[in-house]
Amino acid sequence: MIELTVPLGDRSYPVLVGAGARHRLLEVLPVGAKRAAIVTQPGIDLPVDAGIESRVFSFPSGEDAKHLGTVEDLCRDWAAWGLTRNDVVVAVGGGVVTDLAGFAAAIYHRGVAVVHVPTTLLGQIDAAIGGKTGANLPEGKNLVGAFWQPAAVLCDIDALSTLPPREYRSGLGEMAKYAFLGVPNLADLPLDEAVAACVQCKADVVASDEREGGRRAILNYGHTLGHALETATNYDLRHGEGVAIGLIYAAELAHALGRIDTARVAEHRKVVGGYDLPMQLPPGVDPDQLVALFSRDKKAVDGVTFVLDGPDGVEPVPVADATLLRSTLDRLR
Ligand SMILES: NC(=O)c1ccc[n+]([C@@H]2O[C@H](COP(=O)([O-])OP(=O)(O)OC[C@H]3O[C@@H](n4cnc5c(N)ncnc54)[C@H](O)[C@@H]3O)[C@@H](O)[C@H]2O)c1
Repeated sequence: MIELTVPLGDRSYPVLVGAGARHRLLEVLPVGAKRAAIVTQPGIDLPVDAGIESRVFSFPSGEDAKHLGTVEDLCRDWAAWGLTRNDVVVAVGGGVVTDLAGFAAAIYHRGVAVVHVPTTLLGQIDAAIGGKTGANLPEGKNLVGAFWQPAAVLCDIDALSTLPPREYRSGLGEMAKYAFLGVPNLADLPLDEAVAACVQCKADVVASDEREGGRRAILNYGHTLGHALETATNYDLRHGEGVAIGLIYAAELAHALGRIDTARVAEHRKVVGGYDLPMQLPPGVDPDQLVALFSRDKKAVDGVTFVLDGPDGVEPVPVADATLLRSTLDRLR
Protein backbone atom coordinates (compact mmCIF):
# COMPACT_ATOMS: atom_id res chain seq x y z
CA MET A 1 0.00 0.00 0.00
CA ILE A 2 1.35 3.43 -0.90
CA GLU A 3 0.60 6.02 1.79
CA LEU A 4 0.63 9.72 0.94
CA THR A 5 -0.48 12.87 2.72
CA VAL A 6 -2.21 15.97 1.44
CA PRO A 7 -0.42 18.47 3.70
CA LEU A 8 -2.88 21.14 4.81
CA GLY A 9 -1.91 21.81 8.42
CA ASP A 10 -4.60 20.64 10.82
CA ARG A 11 -6.72 19.58 7.85
CA SER A 12 -4.03 17.29 6.41
CA TYR A 13 -5.29 13.87 5.41
CA PRO A 14 -3.97 10.51 4.26
CA VAL A 15 -4.41 9.04 0.80
CA LEU A 16 -3.89 5.27 0.61
CA VAL A 17 -3.31 3.83 -2.84
CA GLY A 18 -3.27 0.12 -3.62
CA ALA A 19 -5.23 -3.10 -4.03
CA GLY A 20 -7.71 -3.49 -1.17
CA ALA A 21 -7.31 0.10 0.14
CA ARG A 22 -11.04 0.19 0.95
CA HIS A 23 -10.47 -2.35 3.71
CA ARG A 24 -8.59 0.35 5.64
CA LEU A 25 -11.79 2.39 6.06
CA LEU A 26 -12.22 1.65 9.75
CA GLU A 27 -8.82 3.10 10.66
CA VAL A 28 -9.39 6.42 8.84
CA LEU A 29 -12.87 7.15 10.19
CA PRO A 30 -13.10 10.28 12.36
CA VAL A 31 -12.88 9.52 16.06
CA GLY A 32 -16.32 9.34 17.63
CA ALA A 33 -18.32 8.77 14.44
CA LYS A 34 -21.24 6.47 15.27
CA ARG A 35 -22.92 6.28 11.85
CA ALA A 36 -21.65 6.13 8.30
CA ALA A 37 -23.81 7.32 5.40
CA ILE A 38 -22.43 5.44 2.42
CA VAL A 39 -23.23 7.29 -0.81
CA THR A 40 -22.94 5.42 -4.08
CA GLN A 41 -24.65 4.65 -7.40
CA PRO A 42 -26.25 1.51 -8.83
CA GLY A 43 -23.68 -0.47 -10.85
CA ILE A 44 -20.80 0.34 -8.52
CA ASP A 45 -20.40 -2.95 -6.79
CA LEU A 46 -17.81 -2.08 -4.17
CA PRO A 47 -18.97 -3.06 -0.69
CA VAL A 48 -17.27 -1.14 2.10
CA ASP A 49 -17.37 -1.99 5.79
CA ALA A 50 -17.23 1.04 8.07
CA GLY A 51 -17.44 -1.11 11.21
CA ILE A 52 -20.13 1.20 12.61
CA GLU A 53 -23.86 1.49 11.92
CA SER A 54 -24.14 2.21 8.21
CA ARG A 55 -26.76 2.84 5.57
CA VAL A 56 -26.38 3.03 1.80
CA PHE A 57 -27.79 6.07 -0.04
CA SER A 58 -27.83 5.61 -3.79
CA PHE A 59 -28.63 8.03 -6.61
CA PRO A 60 -28.75 7.51 -10.39
CA SER A 61 -25.58 7.33 -12.51
CA GLY A 62 -24.50 9.99 -14.94
CA GLU A 63 -23.70 13.69 -15.05
CA ASP A 64 -27.47 14.39 -15.25
CA ALA A 65 -27.82 13.45 -11.58
CA LYS A 66 -25.17 15.98 -10.53
CA HIS A 67 -27.61 18.73 -9.59
CA LEU A 68 -28.84 20.48 -6.47
CA GLY A 69 -31.95 18.29 -6.28
CA THR A 70 -29.75 15.27 -5.59
CA VAL A 71 -27.84 17.20 -2.92
CA GLU A 72 -31.14 18.09 -1.26
CA ASP A 73 -32.35 14.48 -1.47
CA LEU A 74 -29.17 13.25 0.20
CA CYS A 75 -29.40 15.81 3.00
CA ARG A 76 -33.04 15.04 3.60
CA ASP A 77 -32.45 11.28 3.66
CA TRP A 78 -29.55 11.74 6.10
CA ALA A 79 -31.72 13.93 8.31
CA ALA A 80 -34.53 11.37 8.26
CA TRP A 81 -32.02 8.71 9.28
CA GLY A 82 -30.61 10.89 12.06
CA LEU A 83 -27.07 11.51 10.79
CA THR A 84 -25.32 14.06 13.02
CA ARG A 85 -22.36 16.36 12.38
CA ASN A 86 -20.18 13.99 14.44
CA ASP A 87 -20.89 11.13 12.05
CA VAL A 88 -19.33 10.49 8.67
CA VAL A 89 -20.25 10.34 4.99
CA VAL A 90 -18.41 7.77 2.89
CA ALA A 91 -18.53 8.49 -0.85
CA VAL A 92 -18.00 5.35 -2.94
CA GLY A 93 -17.96 6.17 -6.63
CA GLY A 94 -16.54 8.28 -9.41
CA GLY A 95 -16.20 12.04 -9.55
CA VAL A 96 -19.94 12.58 -9.69
CA VAL A 97 -20.41 10.73 -6.38
CA THR A 98 -17.43 12.29 -4.58
CA ASP A 99 -18.30 15.81 -5.85
CA LEU A 100 -21.96 15.53 -4.87
CA ALA A 101 -21.56 13.61 -1.61
CA GLY A 102 -18.68 15.92 -0.69
CA PHE A 103 -20.82 19.00 -1.36
CA ALA A 104 -23.75 17.59 0.61
CA ALA A 105 -21.32 16.76 3.45
CA ALA A 106 -19.94 20.32 3.34
CA ILE A 107 -23.36 21.87 3.91
CA TYR A 108 -25.14 19.22 5.99
CA HIS A 109 -25.29 20.53 9.58
CA ARG A 110 -22.73 23.08 8.31
CA GLY A 111 -20.24 20.33 7.69
CA VAL A 112 -19.91 16.63 8.41
CA ALA A 113 -16.71 14.63 7.76
CA VAL A 114 -16.41 12.79 4.45
CA VAL A 115 -14.14 9.93 3.42
CA HIS A 116 -13.75 9.38 -0.31
CA VAL A 117 -13.41 5.93 -1.82
CA PRO A 118 -13.00 6.86 -5.50
CA THR A 119 -13.87 4.01 -7.86
CA THR A 120 -12.90 5.53 -11.22
CA LEU A 121 -9.39 6.25 -12.42
CA LEU A 122 -10.37 9.89 -12.85
CA GLY A 123 -11.70 9.99 -9.31
CA GLN A 124 -8.55 8.46 -7.85
CA ILE A 125 -6.06 10.75 -9.55
CA ASP A 126 -8.11 13.90 -9.54
CA ALA A 127 -11.70 14.39 -8.38
CA ALA A 128 -11.40 12.87 -4.89
CA ILE A 129 -8.21 14.75 -4.02
CA GLY A 130 -8.06 18.42 -3.07
CA GLY A 131 -11.43 19.22 -1.54
CA LYS A 132 -13.33 20.69 -4.46
CA THR A 133 -16.97 19.61 -4.32
CA GLY A 134 -19.96 20.76 -6.28
CA ALA A 135 -22.94 20.34 -8.54
CA ASN A 136 -23.98 21.52 -11.98
CA LEU A 137 -26.60 24.15 -12.80
CA PRO A 138 -28.56 24.17 -16.07
CA GLU A 139 -26.37 27.19 -16.92
CA GLY A 140 -23.12 25.25 -16.62
CA LYS A 141 -20.95 22.64 -14.98
CA ASN A 142 -19.81 22.87 -11.35
CA LEU A 143 -21.24 26.37 -10.96
CA VAL A 144 -22.11 25.74 -7.31
CA GLY A 145 -19.91 24.07 -4.76
CA ALA A 146 -17.65 24.36 -1.76
CA PHE A 147 -14.13 23.56 -0.71
CA TRP A 148 -14.48 20.69 1.74
CA GLN A 149 -11.41 18.57 2.35
CA PRO A 150 -12.04 14.88 3.04
CA ALA A 151 -10.84 13.19 6.22
CA ALA A 152 -9.11 10.53 4.11
CA VAL A 153 -9.07 9.11 0.59
CA LEU A 154 -8.84 5.38 -0.17
CA CYS A 155 -7.82 4.68 -3.77
CA ASP A 156 -8.55 0.98 -4.13
CA ILE A 157 -6.96 -0.18 -7.37
CA ASP A 158 -9.19 -3.30 -7.30
CA ALA A 159 -12.21 -1.06 -7.90
CA LEU A 160 -10.94 -0.21 -11.37
CA SER A 161 -11.35 -3.80 -12.63
CA THR A 162 -15.11 -3.34 -13.14
CA LEU A 163 -14.81 0.08 -14.74
CA PRO A 164 -16.19 0.23 -18.31
CA PRO A 165 -13.27 0.66 -20.76
CA ARG A 166 -14.43 4.10 -21.88
CA GLU A 167 -14.47 5.34 -18.29
CA TYR A 168 -10.99 3.99 -17.75
CA ARG A 169 -9.80 5.77 -20.88
CA SER A 170 -11.41 8.96 -19.61
CA GLY A 171 -9.20 8.71 -16.52
CA LEU A 172 -6.20 8.37 -18.77
CA GLY A 173 -7.04 11.83 -20.15
CA GLU A 174 -6.40 13.31 -16.72
CA MET A 175 -3.34 11.12 -16.32
CA ALA A 176 -1.92 12.53 -19.57
CA LYS A 177 -2.33 16.01 -18.05
CA TYR A 178 -0.01 15.14 -15.15
CA ALA A 179 2.72 14.20 -17.61
CA PHE A 180 2.90 17.93 -18.43
CA LEU A 181 2.71 19.06 -14.81
CA GLY A 182 6.05 17.47 -14.03
CA VAL A 183 5.35 13.78 -13.33
CA PRO A 184 8.10 11.88 -15.18
CA ASN A 185 7.78 8.53 -17.00
CA LEU A 186 4.13 8.09 -16.08
CA ALA A 187 3.39 5.69 -18.90
CA ASP A 188 6.11 3.28 -17.69
CA LEU A 189 4.85 2.94 -14.10
CA PRO A 190 2.65 0.12 -12.75
CA LEU A 191 -0.90 1.33 -12.21
CA ASP A 192 -0.73 1.82 -8.43
CA GLU A 193 2.50 3.81 -8.70
CA ALA A 194 1.12 5.88 -11.57
CA VAL A 195 -2.01 6.69 -9.54
CA ALA A 196 0.13 7.55 -6.51
CA ALA A 197 2.42 9.79 -8.60
CA CYS A 198 -0.58 11.74 -9.89
CA VAL A 199 -2.04 12.00 -6.37
CA GLN A 200 1.30 13.30 -5.08
CA CYS A 201 1.43 15.92 -7.85
CA LYS A 202 -2.11 17.08 -7.12
CA ALA A 203 -1.46 17.07 -3.35
CA ASP A 204 1.61 19.28 -3.83
CA VAL A 205 -0.29 21.77 -5.97
CA VAL A 206 -3.28 21.84 -3.61
CA ALA A 207 -1.00 22.29 -0.60
CA SER A 208 0.58 25.33 -2.25
CA ASP A 209 -2.74 26.95 -3.20
CA GLU A 210 -5.75 25.29 -1.58
CA ARG A 211 -8.39 27.70 -2.86
CA GLU A 212 -7.11 28.39 -6.33
CA GLY A 213 -5.78 31.85 -5.78
CA GLY A 214 -3.05 31.14 -8.32
CA ARG A 215 -0.99 28.01 -8.85
CA ARG A 216 -3.84 25.52 -8.43
CA ALA A 217 -5.20 26.75 -11.76
CA ILE A 218 -2.51 24.69 -13.51
CA LEU A 219 -4.59 21.62 -12.66
CA ASN A 220 -7.01 22.92 -15.26
CA TYR A 221 -4.48 22.30 -18.01
CA GLY A 222 -6.49 21.15 -21.04
CA HIS A 223 -9.78 21.92 -19.32
CA THR A 224 -10.98 25.12 -20.99
CA LEU A 225 -11.62 23.41 -24.32
CA GLY A 226 -12.45 20.19 -22.44
CA HIS A 227 -15.32 21.84 -20.56
CA ALA A 228 -16.55 23.61 -23.70
CA LEU A 229 -16.61 20.26 -25.54
CA GLU A 230 -18.52 18.59 -22.73
CA THR A 231 -21.13 21.35 -22.89
CA ALA A 232 -21.27 21.42 -26.70
CA THR A 233 -21.72 17.64 -26.91
CA ASN A 234 -24.22 17.59 -24.05
CA TYR A 235 -21.78 15.43 -22.06
CA ASP A 236 -21.61 12.72 -24.75
CA LEU A 237 -17.88 13.23 -24.49
CA ARG A 238 -16.39 11.89 -21.25
CA HIS A 239 -14.52 14.43 -19.10
CA GLY A 240 -11.08 12.94 -19.72
CA GLU A 241 -11.72 12.67 -23.45
CA GLY A 242 -12.46 16.39 -23.51
CA VAL A 243 -9.32 17.08 -21.49
CA ALA A 244 -7.26 14.98 -23.93
CA ILE A 245 -8.43 17.07 -26.90
CA GLY A 246 -7.99 20.17 -24.75
CA LEU A 247 -4.35 19.29 -24.07
CA ILE A 248 -3.63 19.15 -27.81
CA TYR A 249 -5.44 22.46 -28.30
CA ALA A 250 -3.51 24.08 -25.44
CA ALA A 251 -0.25 22.90 -27.01
CA GLU A 252 -1.22 24.25 -30.44
CA LEU A 253 -2.29 27.55 -28.86
CA ALA A 254 0.95 27.83 -26.88
CA HIS A 255 2.85 27.19 -30.10
CA ALA A 256 0.83 29.81 -32.01
CA LEU A 257 1.69 32.29 -29.24
CA GLY A 258 5.39 31.42 -29.53
CA ARG A 259 5.56 29.88 -26.05
CA ILE A 260 6.64 26.34 -27.08
CA ASP A 261 8.31 24.80 -30.13
CA THR A 262 6.98 22.15 -32.49
CA ALA A 263 8.88 19.40 -30.65
CA ARG A 264 6.92 20.17 -27.49
CA VAL A 265 3.65 20.10 -29.45
CA ALA A 266 4.70 16.72 -30.84
CA GLU A 267 5.37 15.52 -27.28
CA HIS A 268 1.79 16.39 -26.36
CA ARG A 269 0.52 14.37 -29.32
CA LYS A 270 2.79 11.46 -28.38
CA VAL A 271 1.64 11.32 -24.73
CA VAL A 272 -2.07 11.77 -25.49
CA GLY A 273 -1.93 9.42 -28.51
CA GLY A 274 0.06 6.91 -26.43
CA TYR A 275 -2.98 6.55 -24.17
CA ASP A 276 -5.15 6.03 -27.27
CA LEU A 277 -7.10 9.19 -26.49
CA PRO A 278 -8.90 11.43 -29.00
CA MET A 279 -6.94 14.38 -30.39
CA GLN A 280 -9.46 15.90 -32.81
CA LEU A 281 -12.69 17.83 -32.42
CA PRO A 282 -15.66 15.45 -32.48
CA PRO A 283 -17.71 15.64 -35.70
CA GLY A 284 -20.60 18.09 -35.67
CA VAL A 285 -19.16 20.43 -33.05
CA ASP A 286 -19.38 24.11 -34.07
CA PRO A 287 -16.01 25.85 -33.45
CA ASP A 288 -17.68 29.25 -33.10
CA GLN A 289 -19.83 27.84 -30.31
CA LEU A 290 -16.68 26.55 -28.58
CA VAL A 291 -15.05 30.01 -28.68
CA ALA A 292 -18.25 31.49 -27.23
CA LEU A 293 -18.20 28.87 -24.48
CA PHE A 294 -14.59 29.71 -23.55
CA SER A 295 -15.62 33.05 -22.13
CA ARG A 296 -18.34 31.41 -20.04
CA ASP A 297 -15.81 29.19 -18.29
CA LYS A 298 -15.97 30.07 -14.61
CA LYS A 299 -12.19 30.31 -14.52
CA ALA A 300 -12.52 33.25 -16.95
CA VAL A 301 -11.92 36.13 -14.54
CA ASP A 302 -10.70 38.71 -17.02
CA GLY A 303 -11.33 37.73 -20.64
CA VAL A 304 -10.38 34.16 -21.49
CA THR A 305 -7.61 32.68 -19.40
CA PHE A 306 -5.96 29.55 -20.74
CA VAL A 307 -3.53 27.37 -18.89
CA LEU A 308 -0.61 27.10 -21.28
CA ASP A 309 2.79 25.48 -21.44
CA GLY A 310 5.78 27.75 -21.89
CA PRO A 311 9.40 28.43 -20.97
CA ASP A 312 8.50 28.55 -17.26
CA GLY A 313 6.25 25.49 -17.42
CA VAL A 314 2.47 25.37 -17.35
CA GLU A 315 0.79 28.60 -16.15
CA PRO A 316 -2.41 30.64 -16.59
CA VAL A 317 -2.21 33.06 -19.54
CA PRO A 318 -4.87 35.58 -20.61
CA VAL A 319 -5.65 35.23 -24.32
CA ALA A 320 -7.64 38.11 -25.81
CA ASP A 321 -7.34 37.23 -29.51
CA ALA A 322 -10.63 35.46 -30.37
CA THR A 323 -9.54 35.08 -34.02
CA LEU A 324 -6.48 33.11 -32.89
CA LEU A 325 -8.58 30.98 -30.55
CA ARG A 326 -10.90 30.18 -33.45
CA SER A 327 -8.20 29.52 -36.08
CA THR A 328 -6.24 27.25 -33.72
CA LEU A 329 -9.31 25.03 -33.43
CA ASP A 330 -8.85 24.25 -37.13
CA ARG A 331 -5.61 22.46 -36.25
CA LEU A 332 -7.73 19.87 -34.43
CA ARG A 333 -9.76 18.72 -37.41
N1 LIG B 1 -13.62 17.81 -7.63
C1 LIG B 1 -12.67 17.80 -8.54
O1 LIG B 1 -11.56 18.29 -8.30
C2 LIG B 1 -12.95 17.17 -9.86
C3 LIG B 1 -11.88 16.93 -10.75
C4 LIG B 1 -12.16 16.30 -11.94
C5 LIG B 1 -13.45 15.92 -12.25
N2 LIG B 1 -14.46 16.17 -11.39
C6 LIG B 1 -15.84 15.76 -11.70
O2 LIG B 1 -15.88 14.35 -11.80
C7 LIG B 1 -16.96 13.98 -12.66
C8 LIG B 1 -16.51 12.89 -13.58
O3 LIG B 1 -16.10 11.81 -12.80
P1 LIG B 1 -15.94 10.34 -13.42
O4 LIG B 1 -15.23 10.43 -14.70
O5 LIG B 1 -15.41 9.50 -12.34
O6 LIG B 1 -17.42 9.94 -13.84
P2 LIG B 1 -18.65 9.32 -13.03
O7 LIG B 1 -18.58 9.59 -11.61
O8 LIG B 1 -19.89 9.71 -13.75
O9 LIG B 1 -18.43 7.74 -13.25
C9 LIG B 1 -18.51 7.21 -14.55
C10 LIG B 1 -19.48 6.01 -14.62
O10 LIG B 1 -18.80 4.86 -14.13
C11 LIG B 1 -19.60 4.24 -13.11
N3 LIG B 1 -18.63 3.65 -12.19
C12 LIG B 1 -17.88 4.29 -11.29
N4 LIG B 1 -17.03 3.45 -10.71
C13 LIG B 1 -17.27 2.23 -11.23
C14 LIG B 1 -16.70 0.95 -11.04
N5 LIG B 1 -15.67 0.76 -10.21
N6 LIG B 1 -17.19 -0.08 -11.75
C15 LIG B 1 -18.19 0.12 -12.63
N7 LIG B 1 -18.78 1.30 -12.87
C16 LIG B 1 -18.31 2.35 -12.17
C17 LIG B 1 -20.44 5.36 -12.55
O11 LIG B 1 -21.61 4.87 -11.92
C18 LIG B 1 -20.75 6.16 -13.80
O12 LIG B 1 -21.81 5.58 -14.51
C19 LIG B 1 -17.41 15.24 -13.36
O13 LIG B 1 -18.64 15.65 -12.82
C20 LIG B 1 -16.32 16.25 -13.03
O14 LIG B 1 -16.82 17.57 -12.95
C21 LIG B 1 -14.23 16.78 -10.21
